[in-house]
Amino acid sequence: MLDTIDAANKLQQTIGRISNLPTPPLVFQQINRVINDPGTSAYDIAVILSEDPAMSVKILKLSNSAFYGLRHEVTSIKQAVVIMGMEAVRSMVLSTAVFDIFKKDTIDPEIQEEFWRHSLATATCMRMLVRSLSGTWIRKSDQAFSTGLLHDIGRLVMYSYLPDDYQAAKKLHETDAVPMLMAEETALGYTHSNVGALLAQKWGLPPQLEDAIEFHHYPHLSKDESSLAYMAHLADYIAHLTLDTEEELEKDPPHLDPVVLEELKIPEDRLKSYSDTLREEYTKAETFIQMATGM
Ligand SMILES: [Fe+2]
Ligand SMILES: [Fe+2]
Repeated sequence: MLDTIDAANKLQQTIGRISNLPTPPLVFQQINRVINDPGTSAYDIAVILSEDPAMSVKILKLSNSAFYGLRHEVTSIKQAVVIMGMEAVRSMVLSTAVFDIFKKDTIDPEIQEEFWRHSLATATCMRMLVRSLSGTWIRKSDQAFSTGLLHDIGRLVMYSYLPDDYQAAKKLHETDAVPMLMAEETALGYTHSNVGALLAQKWGLPPQLEDAIEFHHYPHLSKDESSLAYMAHLADYIAHLTLDTEEELEKDPPHLDPVVLEELKIPEDRLKSYSDTLREEYTKAETFIQMATGM
């Protein structure tokens, strides 16, 4: 956790070194801009999407997939936007953009696979939590899905744009058997959460999403009222417990801050059922990533 002025300065210097931080594609920028306007209709989104045929095909396929489980075939983009909801379209366009940008030969396929598996599991769990909880955050369900997908995006940014820092943290993690988050804090003075929040800011993502990315490991520091950071912390924990291999769990045991259960009013004995549901839902959700990434 960054709690000193020195650490904050060091982070600023490091982030300044990422001068060529990637920018999202035009279709994402256009959708992101109009989606924040309350007057935007499904038709407006459909017009933007139709300018990008590859994206249009993905959206249509996804709306007809097991992820939505509809009985009737969706045949137009406008219909797909109405069914999926605008935020889901943004999630889809966003994950496609992230995948395209970071799908470089330089990224170890094993790291990519692990990243998407964990991100998708966390996103699925976020969606599940939103459905089972009641409160003001209920309307942010699709934003919750995007938060899950992107909460660890800083790790990919570090891997690609700050390779020396990434390797230094990884070395400490492996040689001293220190959890990865702690290794980042000790070796670098900043974490993937800070880097992820910076990317979110640069890409103009909603402030709640940026906040949840920044504080998913320390939700009590969140400055947002929506509890999205608390949900991200819990979803991250359940996703690790449910889908990590035994070796991964041993190397990096997931941590749950008990304050999260209090904040979200969830009894501890409900965690097991969340984990069981996630295991079932995850298979359906894999369609989302397959459509977005072609993996
Ligand atoms: Fe994380
Ligand atoms: Fe995570």
